[in-house]
This record gives sequence, C-alpha cells and structure tokens, in this order.
Amino acid sequence: MITVCFITKKGERVTAQAQPGARLLEVGQAAGMSLEGTCEGQMACSTCHVIVAE
Ligand code: FES
Repeated sequence: MITVCFITKKGERVTAQAQPGARLLEVGQAAGMSLEGTCEGQMACSTCHVIVAE
C-alpha cells in the first residue's frame, strides 16, 4: 500500500491508502474527494484535473 495525500481547494489534507498502480481518480473518489469523473478516467473531459507534486 502507498499513502496518497490530496489537498483540497480549501487547503484541507485528505489522506488515502492505495495499491501501487491504482488510478488516482478512483483513489480520490473512494476518499470522498469531489472528482466527478465524467469520462470515467479516459482523460477526455479533465473534470479530475490534479496537480502532482514532484
Ligand atoms: S474523468 Fe478524468 S479526465 Fe475525465
């Protein structure tokens, strides 16, 4: 398992556990993040736009 930390628009930190290789869209949705996922992660709609730190 790996730990993923989401930072909301309000600056709140939400921590989630995920399997290596898991899709961030699904990890975020399972953690209660407001990610609509209109195209179900096909990278066609950008509703789950994220910024990934280095
Ligand atoms: S659900 Fe992520 S880009 Fe569409």
